[in-house]
Amino acid sequence: MQIVRSSEELARARAALKGKVALVPTMGALHAGHMALVEAARREADAVAVSLFVNPTQFAANEDLGRYPRREAEDARMLEEAGCDLLWMPSVEDMYPDGFSTSIHVAGLSERWEGEARPGHFDGVATVVAKLLLSVQPDIAAFGEKDFQQLAVIRRMVADLDIAVEIAAVETVREEDGLALSSRNLYLSPDERPRAVSLFRALRNARRSILAGQPVSAALGEGRNALLLAGFSRIDYFALVDAATLEPLDAAAGAMRLIAAAVIGTTRLIDNLPV
Ligand code: PAF
Repeated sequence: MQIVRSSEELARARAALKGKVALVPTMGALHAGHMALVEAARREADAVAVSLFVNPTQFAANEDLGRYPRREAEDARMLEEAGCDLLWMPSVEDMYPDGFSTSIHVAGLSERWEGEARPGHFDGVATVVAKLLLSVQPDIAAFGEKDFQQLAVIRRMVADLDIAVEIAAVETVREEDGLALSSRNLYLSPDERPRAVSLFRALRNARRSILAGQPVSAALGEGRNALLLAGFSRIDYFALVDAATLEPLDAAAGAMRLIAAAVIGTTRLIDNLPV
């Protein structure tokens, strides 16, 4: 696996990749969820490039940029073992040189849910993902369904800007008890970790209730109560949405998704399930 940092090195290394190329954009602190993206990329393409960049513009001033886990050497070892061909680790200065002034805003889709709880987050994501895609020019780019709204925002941005790439969605990988894998799970204390799984359980129970015909508002209310009982201190949202538009639904209809974000201790977790 070749490791490159500067955009010049990336351009040379990219030119040497043959056949169909897949990109897996990451912020590092890799876990089995990321490795599932790499595996999916390997199945679909001849060569796999991974970017590792903790993107400062998608964190608000009060968020966890400073403590976001960084484990470059360990990440590189995992990617090498997984058969990745190219690892690109740009610097902040390379991505955002002096004078950088462009921001991509995906109206509508990026404004609710995570967009409301984390103003500016998706502008940071859309802008950096556009830069990653334009720099690597992959045939395919793989993203996890764990960040369901992010996936929708990226699909919209790619379609609107005519970026010639196929977006591949990869199912969420979970711990044995159901907790969705996330780099932020590293923040959970030993006491919070077993309670954190309530987020998944509340979504699963809400899905069961909705499919059994219970009114949506009652199923969502029970889910929120379960989270508070488990010790979550804040629920940013716990909602049933249309899987394509992410508009909230108050009755079951068509392809749906249950989505949730809540805080336990100092850790904000998100998860979602198809309905
Ligand atoms: O999902 C992530 O890890 C990040 O949001 C991404 C897509 C790599 C952009 O920084």
